Amino acid sequence: MAETGFTNMAGTAAAGSAPEIGIGMLGYAFMGKAHSNAFKKLPYMMYPPVALPKLVAIAGRNEAAVREAAARYGYASHYTDWRKMIQDDRVQLFDNGGPNDLHAEPCILAAQAGKSILCEKPLARSTAEAAAMLEAVTKAGVKHAVAFNYRFVPAIRLAKDLIADGKLGQIYHFRAVYLQEWIMPHYNTPHIWRLDKTVAGSGALGDLGSHIIDLGRYLVGEPRRVSAAVSTFIKARPGVGGKPQTVDVDDAFAATIEFQNGALGTLEATRYAGGHKNSNCLEINGEKGSIRFNLERMNELEVHWIGEEPQSTQGFHQVLVSEAHHPFWSNWWPHGHIIGWEHTFVHEIHHFLDAIVNNKPVGPHGATFEDGYRNAVICDAILQSADTGRRVDINY
Ligand SMILES: NC(=O)c1ccc[n+]([C@@H]2O[C@H](COP(=O)([O-])OP(=O)(O)OC[C@H]3O[C@@H](n4cnc5c(N)ncnc54)[C@H](O)[C@@H]3O)[C@@H](O)[C@H]2O)c1
Repeated sequence: MAETGFTNMAGTAAAGSAPEIGIGMLGYAFMGKAHSNAFKKLPYMMYPPVALPKLVAIAGRNEAAVREAAARYGYASHYTDWRKMIQDDRVQLFDNGGPNDLHAEPCILAAQAGKSILCEKPLARSTAEAAAMLEAVTKAGVKHAVAFNYRFVPAIRLAKDLIADGKLGQIYHFRAVYLQEWIMPHYNTPHIWRLDKTVAGSGALGDLGSHIIDLGRYLVGEPRRVSAAVSTFIKARPGVGGKPQTVDVDDAFAATIEFQNGALGTLEATRYAGGHKNSNCLEINGEKGSIRFNLERMNELEVHWIGEEPQSTQGFHQVLVSEAHHPFWSNWWPHGHIIGWEHTFVHEIHHFLDAIVNNKPVGPHGATFEDGYRNAVICDAILQSADTGRRVDINY
């Protein structure tokens, strides 16, 4: 095999010199699994490790199921009461992979108990809830992060670096869509928590839209105002016992977003886009070039540089983001041996552990509760605009 510049086999510090950090995980389903997988991979892939995650405890509601999850993922113990887990002295980092209605109270209690906190997105169901969470972590002085993991896709970080280096010049457009299909009629999806406003807060907006709102803020900047429409296509679904239950969240939203720096954007998210499994796509057009990204081809970034021949006359060309000098890549494989969605969590959690252990800031690359709060403000403004038919200013 040709020399690729892949250098991380020989670390400069022994793994044994890294401090242990006790993890308490809430939830053991989709995100519980993704985060646990990342904790386990970290010490040997992000080498030498900044910290050694010690899987202390995992919490759920069902004793048998959470016991099995603890055994499966390698947690030393389990709880059926997350409050007790938060009070466990062995837990130093509380990781919240629960549904949206279980973000605020556990995170606030964890902050009061002095734990570092990683919370899944959206941070909260509303601006008010997010503000209370931000206040709690700020008051307690603990490290906090929101799991906007797409910031940790190598191609997205490369996009961020290109923009920060001025390679695109002035940004004119941010165009982002997040499209899925899994609640379309042919899936016969019952009434789950993601379709219940009291649990989820909002629908496609908080679930998918929050990600592209975050990427807009991360890559382009703060929004000045939004204008939006939302729609709910199927208004009731079978709940417990097959009884119809109202769907009171948006199935889809579309918004225009005006940024403070003059860029104009459009955002769209839906779970009714047939053929789209997990299309998180964005395009940014600037004075000197354009870039575009599609999560379903996450190792690629398409670029177009204006005035650079032959690209200038040939539209976009594709960069395979897998060189050792590309973001995060020195930790993985020889170029072209691509990585996947789950690795975004490895990068994200490694970044957060580094912030905790070495007292570094979580931002600007990691999303903090401040970012989660701002995201909630924008989500609420989108709903307000859809409700009133007016453009809404963003005021944090
Ligand atoms: N970053 C991402 O890409 C991404 C992807 C999916 C979900 N999420 C977010 O992650 C969070 C969880 O989503 P998910 O898909 O893992 O949901 P899920 O339904 O798959 O899992 C939720 C977990 O929480 C547990 N739980 C629910 N109520 C509980 C309670 N009262 N006490 C203890 N445990 C409880 C459930 O048992 C389950 O293990 C949500 O906020 C969601 O928006 C983020």
